[in-house]
Amino acid sequence: MTPYDRNVSAEQPPAALPGARLLFSLDPGVSYLNHGSFGAVPIGVQRAQQRLRDEIESNPLRFFAQGLSDRIIHTRRHVAAFLGADPEGSALVANTTTAASLVLQSVKLEPADEVLLSDHSYGSVALAARRRCRRAGATVRTVALPMPATDAELVSRVRAALRPGRTKLLVIDQIASATAMTFPVREIVAAAHEHEIPVLVDAAHVPGMLPVDVASIRADFWVGNLHKWAFAPRGTALLSVAPEWRRKIEPLVVSWEQEQGYPHSVEYQGTLDYTPWLAAPTGIFTLRTLGWADVRAHNAALAAYGQRVLGDALNVPRGELPQPADPELAMRVVPLPAGLATTTPEAQALRQLIADKLAVETAVNAWGGRGLLRLSAQVYNRPDEYDRFAERLPALLHSYRRG
Ligand SMILES: Cc1ncc(COP(=O)(O)O)c(C=O)c1O
Repeated sequence: MTPYDRNVSAEQPPAALPGARLLFSLDPGVSYLNHGSFGAVPIGVQRAQQRLRDEIESNPLRFFAQGLSDRIIHTRRHVAAFLGADPEGSALVANTTTAASLVLQSVKLEPADEVLLSDHSYGSVALAARRRCRRAGATVRTVALPMPATDAELVSRVRAALRPGRTKLLVIDQIASATAMTFPVREIVAAAHEHEIPVLVDAAHVPGMLPVDVASIRADFWVGNLHKWAFAPRGTALLSVAPEWRRKIEPLVVSWEQEQGYPHSVEYQGTLDYTPWLAAPTGIFTLRTLGWADVRAHNAALAAYGQRVLGDALNVPRGELPQPADPELAMRVVPLPAGLATTTPEAQALRQLIADKLAVETAVNAWGGRGLLRLSAQVYNRPDEYDRFAERLPALLHSYRRG
């Protein structure tokens, strides 16, 4: 047992992990409560990446011509092992955005076909699906999944939305961005497979936030960002592809390893900066050095605490604060007063106002006609950052409404 085990009571904040805050170079004048959007790279990982850049600049030709492929394969194996993914069926890619387009491009679509998304799907992934369908004359359909909902309800709604013979791809999040809801992806994949419908699991937030065994989910395609919760430099994600699809995966850009097929054709994209990938194992090492179970328990407890104090400040009844199905989730949402941030431009404007006036970075999203404040918690956050935010937010929202 560690002091953090099951410490997810929203009443008491968790104890800080000693020294963890010093591992980051964040601006001390800002409460950075939005690890979820772009991560934050520990100083040790920044240095590892800088050392790689120094190595490149000492002899660029040697770096690119001698052993780069082996280093990429080694890194992919390391990352795949961390995620329980088959290293031979996985490819390092820049981000989830790239993987979504790769997958959409690899699925055959005829005019009567459709791609099924949910109303929690990430905006840019939905845009990619729309473009792909428009080009094929196919359709994007969206299934509405309520918040809150039990896992059984979610599976049953997705199951009811599948159209065997027409649905050629289901895209489902493992952790949704706007709502921070988790989805029972193993059961949803099994339900889709009953009708031979392939599934792309968008697990952008999963690596480093939740333990995962990618192979056991049995998704046709699974992608997770390492640059959010696994402390990798930005531009690091892993796409894992089921054996029957590997031959069909075509890179978005053709380069020298095209003839070698997946995953090499996808990973090698010419003269790029590969240092984020090569430094990614240092991020995983940082998590392990801090004690990954302790990190998860700390972050979940702090996110629960933040949700409780912000919810109280905004007079949200405790029963209306969405609770995650997975207690280790490090992001929580607080519904904003009705009528606030109900569209994406309004949500973005409010997020900017909060940053400018309160020096707090957080996420504000419009979802289902409601504005949702999304709080992240990471080892560099302190309970008093949420306390201070909670003290000052109501007055800001009041003046914002009047203005
Ligand atoms: C659920 C989800 N999918 C996809 C993405 C896109 O990730 P990236 O910008 O790294 O491609 C995000 C980013 O926040 C996300 O939350």
